[in-house]
Amino acid sequence: MGDISMQQTLPRHVAIIMDGNGRWAKKNKLRVALGHRKGVETLREIIRESSDLGIEALTLYAFSTENWKRDPQEVGALMDLLLEFFTSEIDELDEKNVCILILGDVEAMPEKQKQALYNAMSRTGKNTGLKLNIAINYGGRAEIARAARLIAQDVADGKIRAEEIDEKLVASYLYTRDLPDVDLMIRTSGEMRLSNFLLYQCAYAEFDFPEVLWPDFTLAEYHKALNAFGKRERRFGGR
Ligand code: FPP
Repeated sequence: MGDISMQQTLPRHVAIIMDGNGRWAKKNKLRVALGHRKGVETLREIIRESSDLGIEALTLYAFSTENWKRDPQEVGALMDLLLEFFTSEIDELDEKNVCILILGDVEAMPEKQKQALYNAMSRTGKNTGLKLNIAINYGGRAEIARAARLIAQDVADGKIRAEEIDEKLVASYLYTRDLPDVDLMIRTSGEMRLSNFLLYQCAYAEFDFPEVLWPDFTLAEYHKALNAFGKRERRFGGR
């Protein structure tokens, strides 16, 4: 299955833009909701594999602040899937010691989803295994603007001084404050865009753009991306 060699360097933090559910549905003459449903199956496998491999953090883009503009039926289907996922998977994820963090504006989510998301975070928050971060109602620029607002407030309240604001401090005001920088960013379906995902955290990330649509992204494809990462030389601006 394109096994992954254990001597190689695994990324500490993998981020994935799960793109192509719509095109997969179209290709298979199915409703778009079924493309997303198939996408959730892929997502479950990738989470399980990341946990088994001992990857420290996995961050998935599930719903952006721009996704509200889609057809209400599609938005409704995505909301249903989110609710279903956080209700039906939570026992297994908790058993696997997975720690769930939601990145994004949870407060502005519909009531049921909001409760399920808060419940997932509080129930698994002390787990010490895979850090599973799911971006929902998330935008990278909005995240940076929010950090700026919080920092400004703390300066106004005298908790920090303006001179103390450096890169590390800014990072500590992001949703990802306790996570390492992204090492490997994967976007499926051949699109080569960041789409407002983890703008600050990807400063030194390696990028991989497999051609396959997300519902067709297999463990073999995942291993291929991890193996390719292990062979790259990262210089972080040095020689
Ligand atoms: C991009 O495909 C995918 C999304 C906008 C949503 C991703 C969501 C899931 C995989 C399911 C819900 C998530 C969880 C955590 C349960 P697209 O629809 O933009 O594809 P297209 O570009 O081919 O139209």
